[in-house]
Amino acid sequence: MGVVMRTDPAAVASDTREHLFISWSAQAALTPLVITGAQGAWLHADDRKILDFSSGLICVNIGHGHPKVIRAIQEQAAKLQYVTPSFGEESRATLSRLIAEVTPGDLTKTLFTTGGSEANEHAIKIARLYTGRHKILTQWRSFHGQSQGAMTLGGDNRRWAAEPGITGVVHFLNADPYRSLFGADAQKALAHVEEVIWYEGPQHIAGILLEPIVGTSGLIIPPPGYFEGLRTLCDKHGILLMVDEVMTGFGRTGKWFGIENWPGVFPDILTFAKGVNSGYVPLGGVTVSAKIAKHFDDNVLWAGSTYSGHPLACAAGVATIEAYREEGLIERSARLGASLLKDLQGLAARHPSIGEVRGKGLFIGIDLVKDRATREPLERWNNPMSPLANALKNELMKRNVYAFCRWNMIFVAPPLVSTAEDLAFGVKAIDETLAVADRYAATGAL
Ligand SMILES: Cc1ncc(COP(=O)(O)O)c(C=O)c1O
Repeated sequence: MGVVMRTDPAAVASDTREHLFISWSAQAALTPLVITGAQGAWLHADDRKILDFSSGLICVNIGHGHPKVIRAIQEQAAKLQYVTPSFGEESRATLSRLIAEVTPGDLTKTLFTTGGSEANEHAIKIARLYTGRHKILTQWRSFHGQSQGAMTLGGDNRRWAAEPGITGVVHFLNADPYRSLFGADAQKALAHVEEVIWYEGPQHIAGILLEPIVGTSGLIIPPPGYFEGLRTLCDKHGILLMVDEVMTGFGRTGKWFGIENWPGVFPDILTFAKGVNSGYVPLGGVTVSAKIAKHFDDNVLWAGSTYSGHPLACAAGVATIEAYREEGLIERSARLGASLLKDLQGLAARHPSIGEVRGKGLFIGIDLVKDRATREPLERWNNPMSPLANALKNELMKRNVYAFCRWNMIFVAPPLVSTAEDLAFGVKAIDETLAVADRYAATGAL
């Protein structure tokens, strides 16, 4: 007899409440909605349909229920379910080749993981082994995952719970054109990074690790010239340039990878997860340049895990990358993203709480402020509680739209397969919901 799955939402809700931790939350006040299915850009809660305007946790790039990916998982499950990582296996070999094909520069060899945090853990290990140096520089406004090392790499308040964390991680200030000491001046931001390099001792720094476009820590897009300058600084000091493409990878920003928004800049190490197979089966990885790969021809790669290159996850990855190519989804992200950005920016005329709407491709952030002139965030960054974000989330859900909200930000990152009608539905809900933010900015009341 097969496994009996219950579809009684009340039972699911009760089991969830009694036996399941919900991440990053105090548990008592939570009443998670039970999702019973999903298709394209829409979540189903029985008969209720909710627009998934954040692609889950900004991972379901290909949309829910993609038949090609489902079939690939089913066929792989019927053929071969698990193979020890030291054996060859078709799905993981093919996916590693496809990743070498779609990533920028000469990134060529991949170590697979089960997610983005683990990918970043391995990335810093590889950088340390390759360079013989210990320190890693990262940005304060950043997120790199939930494991001990990855949390130390991150800069926002999620790091505090993991402190004292791992050794050798040093943070620097983001090149944030909207709200930083450097404004849109890439050279000033780069001078700051170089000063930090000198204070820390370049000969001790293995790598600089950063998200090309910062994700949940504020959707920050560095100015033109920034990554070019970082590449030069890294080359000058023998430091590796490492990009965390866990969120920005696989079409999210309208390019295959976020770093390609700075054409001609090639990283030494790239980490990925999420969009590699759209979250259908847990998968991440770290991909390195040819010269780093060669180093491990004769030096042991001290990394690995039971599930590295899991066939079900890799088969889903192969099918997802094929679908991105066959359906032109990367170009679609750029095209839809440009018009969605314009529509969302248009809301600023009606909503004084909008400070800025910025984004690339289908990766857009609405930055809410108390006052447009001062750009003071509408909710203090790093606040342990997020009353505004919770209120916005609830208002959106009343209108059957799910979007990731945090502090003073609404993140709009729909699946790349969304239709123009889907996007218009989401924009209308955001327009109506922003009345809450306007009131909060004007009166302090939610
Ligand atoms: C930029 C970035 N890096 C790393 C991670 C961690 O990935 P995972 O949750 O798969 O461990 C995330 C998760 O959201 C992320 O956004």
